[in-house]
Amino acid sequence: MPPAEPSSARSLFRSPPLWAAHLRGKKVAGRRLATLTAYDYPTARILDSCGLDFLLVGDSLGMVVLGHPDTTGVTMNDMCHHTRPVARGAEHTAVVTDMPVGSVGAEAVANAQLLRTAGADAVKIEGGLESLDAISAVIAEGIPVVGHLGMLPQRVREEGGYKIKGRKDSESAGLLESARALDRAGVAAIVLELVHPPVAVEISNQISCPTIGIGSGPGCDGEILVFHDLVGLSPWFRPPFAKPLEHLAERIQAAATSYAAEVRKLGKS
Ligand code: KIV
Repeated sequence: MPPAEPSSARSLFRSPPLWAAHLRGKKVAGRRLATLTAYDYPTARILDSCGLDFLLVGDSLGMVVLGHPDTTGVTMNDMCHHTRPVARGAEHTAVVTDMPVGSVGAEAVANAQLLRTAGADAVKIEGGLESLDAISAVIAEGIPVVGHLGMLPQRVREEGGYKIKGRKDSESAGLLESARALDRAGVAAIVLELVHPPVAVEISNQISCPTIGIGSGPGCDGEILVFHDLVGLSPWFRPPFAKPLEHLAERIQAAATSYAAEVRKLGKS
């Protein structure tokens, strides 16, 4: 299959300095970033006209789409497979793809290039100082990077669950140090997941790139949410901070139940 070609409307998002400057400009202007995940073509195409700052092909697809218990079983193949249709559906909106567990070692640049070839404009990499060399190498290769600090879902097993980060002074100092280092390295933005809200505010005030919060309070420079949590498509699991604005699972069940009744009512004549 030939590599997905981004539309010219997306070319800005493919340059680390240009996209970083664009997002930093929004932060300076006080314009908050709004982003959602997407894992397939119809969702990307529907969301493309909604004024979102980017679509994230998150490795949350492991749970949300593939039915795994967490993100630790997600592979590079899974991420490439889901990036291609999202990149085809998003004509105007930047596509960022998560680098999955185990893909950010010595092969980080090669793996980021594979995601680029699949259609991602940028990649997201979990971790702070320990991921800095990989992040810098990927940016030097001309691929924009979004950082991810706080609760790192790829480490959920070592951590023993999804826990708020930054309540202890030593933890908040480490988060701030990592955020500053990522900012200096030229990341386009940093996702702050489950960061103690006052610490998320402090980080947001201390760095020039936008912070994008999830479960980190209202003080970040933007928000990200799993699409299925927004529209109520995973009613069996809802994180406490997610407030669904729709209840699509119930509507789909009602439609499918009506359809089954219609089919049976007609019968054979
Ligand atoms: O994988 C994902 O969807 C994410 C967001 C929740 C930030 O990393």
